[in-house]
Amino acid sequence: MADTSFSSTPGAAAPEPQALVAPGAAAHYVVLSLAAGAAAEEAARAFFGNAAGLARSVARRAPEAGLSLVVGIGAKAWGRLFGQPRPAGLHEFKALQGDKHQAPSTPGDILLHVRAASVDLCFELVRLAMEGLGDAVRPVDEVHGFRYFDERAMIGFVDGVENPAGREAWDATLIGDEDPDFAGGSYVIVQKYLHDMAAWKQLSTEEQERVIGRTKADNVELADDVKPSNSHVALNVVEDEEGNELAILRGNLPFANASRGEYGTYFIGYAKDPAVTELMLTNMFIGRPPGNYDRLLDFSTAVTGGLFFVPSAALLEALADGNPLADASPAAADPAPGVLTAGDALRIGSLKGQPQMLGPQATAPLDPVG
Ligand code: HEM
Repeated sequence: MADTSFSSTPGAAAPEPQALVAPGAAAHYVVLSLAAGAAAEEAARAFFGNAAGLARSVARRAPEAGLSLVVGIGAKAWGRLFGQPRPAGLHEFKALQGDKHQAPSTPGDILLHVRAASVDLCFELVRLAMEGLGDAVRPVDEVHGFRYFDERAMIGFVDGVENPAGREAWDATLIGDEDPDFAGGSYVIVQKYLHDMAAWKQLSTEEQERVIGRTKADNVELADDVKPSNSHVALNVVEDEEGNELAILRGNLPFANASRGEYGTYFIGYAKDPAVTELMLTNMFIGRPPGNYDRLLDFSTAVTGGLFFVPSAALLEALADGNPLADASPAAADPAPGVLTAGDALRIGSLKGQPQMLGPQATAPLDPVG
């Protein structure tokens, strides 16, 4: 996302977060798996301690380019490297199985989200990171996103418009008193989508607008009585029990390999509680109510899915020496990833004791507020 109005910082008392809110016309999204063995674990911990310094090394050479790095840690890797205590919301990405579309859960121990004004800086930082990690990791997926005209997604609609900004962005993304050991951290969900551009282009502009829920040229949200309940925007407006809208911070960018006919969107969403993003995904893939799935999925296939904990900047650095919060308790087993099905639409809000996520918005007919 390129909205530089996001560049405010959270309150002085809160631990400094990583650069969740950052501009960038270019991004590298890198997912890695951790190799077996104690040496790999040691190298990964050392990398977490050095990551911010590495980013500074590259960023200072081109301050105007706004290079930033976010490091995320998967559930299995956290268990292996740091044991207990662990962030309350950290679990593997839960695959979703809808009537027609599915969201796979794919492996991933470490996520690097690198953004800058130009791709050379993203490359340089990822290169140094990979040198540092060496044999400790194996590549799982690497996508190079770019900002397209007018900040449009590959499908031609402006993306990121309703992202929270300023204070709201931090409120939506940063863990607070509900899990004080991990305050200043966040959770991030990533999915790589491939678009069927031939089928998408066969739709008229008006039909595409009904798929998204906004106008294409002017980028205005459709009125509630016109916007279909299976439009992307309608299904991604979610509320808590008191009717407060729940937000996530998206850093999506398009990517492409035109000679291979590959056109995609890399979805990346930060939230203080992954259940919010999971509720949106449930609405999209299973439907609200079940069966009323996101029409965008008829033109977009999710090929990866991962969930990572994003420690605060201070915790990331401290992890070099192991879990600074640890007592003598042994590493706990990781929760099983499982698959979300239509029945889970009712229960998704209770994933981690979030009763406010339960309820009508998961299954009832649409009540859009956005
Ligand atoms: C195929 C991948 C995707 C594409 C191309 C896409 C594109 C868009 C576009 C064009 C908009 C309207 C403008 C805006 O507010 O940003 C939008 C809105 C939104 N999308 Fe997506 N999106 C994708 C996947 C997802 C996923 C997986 C989620 C959540 C898990 C999501 C959550 C949202 C939210 C929360 C909004 C704002 C709704 C509102 O408040 O109006 N998107 N997306």
